[in-house]
Amino acid sequence: MSILITNIKELVQVEEKPQSMVFGKAMSKLRTIKNGWLLTEGSRIKDFGTMPFPFPISGEEKEGFQLIDASGKMVFPSFCDSHTHLVYAGSREIEYIDKIRGLSYEEIARRGGGILNSAKRLHETHEDELIEQAMGRLNEIMMFGTGAVEIKSGYGLSVEDELKMLRVIRKLKGLSPVKIVPTFLGAHAVPAEYKGRQEEFVDMVISEMIPQVAADNLADYIDVFCDRGFFTVEETDRILNAGMKYGMRAKIHANELDFSGGIQVGVKYNALSVDHLEFTGDEEIECLLGTETMPTILPGAAFFLEMAYSPVRKMIKAGLPVAMASDFNPGSSPSGNMQFILSMACIKYRMLPEEAIHAVTINGAYAMGLSEDFGSIARGKIANFFITKPIPSYSFMPYAYGSNKAEQIILNGKVIQPA
Ligand code: NIG
Ligand code: FE
Repeated sequence: MSILITNIKELVQVEEKPQSMVFGKAMSKLRTIKNGWLLTEGSRIKDFGTMPFPFPISGEEKEGFQLIDASGKMVFPSFCDSHTHLVYAGSREIEYIDKIRGLSYEEIARRGGGILNSAKRLHETHEDELIEQAMGRLNEIMMFGTGAVEIKSGYGLSVEDELKMLRVIRKLKGLSPVKIVPTFLGAHAVPAEYKGRQEEFVDMVISEMIPQVAADNLADYIDVFCDRGFFTVEETDRILNAGMKYGMRAKIHANELDFSGGIQVGVKYNALSVDHLEFTGDEEIECLLGTETMPTILPGAAFFLEMAYSPVRKMIKAGLPVAMASDFNPGSSPSGNMQFILSMACIKYRMLPEEAIHAVTINGAYAMGLSEDFGSIARGKIANFFITKPIPSYSFMPYAYGSNKAEQIILNGKVIQPA
């Protein structure tokens, strides 16, 4: 089955020669085709160009084609959300009220709230229920235009519950048309029963969790919350080292709460990405330049916790690439809406719409190891894209924040029917 979309007002983020990422100045140059067409074949993008479509489609051929007239509408590649924690049990709006009343994220965590609160709920929740809740979130982000997503464990904090979370993520892969990339985050917080014995917990992550996760092939990447009050650089170093021996490349939380050294230890292990980066100075920028590590910012968390925003202008000016993800989680970013993330990028980080679009597409794909197949409109890539409602320009996407500008979702070459 093929889909032919004609009269596309503007086909956004087109690549003739696909690149694995876009960095520095190039982030502000977005390639598009005005008045275009796009053709899929099976699950992949076959071809695209400027109207008129060059081959007349005979009556017989029409059988195998789904024709869509996109007059007045645009086509975007699906968003690639490279950092989420969207498998979780329940919600934590009680802490939201605590925050409104003035408590900080770290104070809430110290009182046994935060990640430990989610770990307790996850422990008490059956796998089937976790799947149902996560599917609801996946369906929601899919309708906002996300076509590939990374999902972390990290609310288990025991061998049994970390494996339970990763099994849930594996099952979601078979249930959702959204491409899912699993990451093991055993060292997300120190569980209550290990209070005062952090080193022993780290030993357990290394000697028990990592081998079992690897034995069942449950995760592609390994993450550590390397920050003030959570895990130190030395602990992160040990965990990443162990993970790499089992074939899990690093992809870590770094520099959210302080100049924690997380960026440096990530780069040391050739991490695929270092994420958060609210605390990024000249030294950190220098350390990232010329490496294969994607700096990833999470505007949702900075917004929700009212933290400092990463110095993105400085990073791009220095020649770095930047990816942007939702961090969808119950504690610091309870939304996976990538259209809102685009708006925040432009408003809060002063990113140009072109830069922000690169950050949520090709650079997000890179940060999941998926840029060969996802993240742009290119021949041979997976046919993951969406058709917008009628909109005046691609800049309208971040500008008109809050509403859903995606009208029709196509994943793996198939039109998705809303649930
Ligand atoms: O990315 N920073 C660590 N982890 C999550 C928050 C998780 C939570 O509070 O439940 C984050 O912000
Ligand atoms: Fe996170």
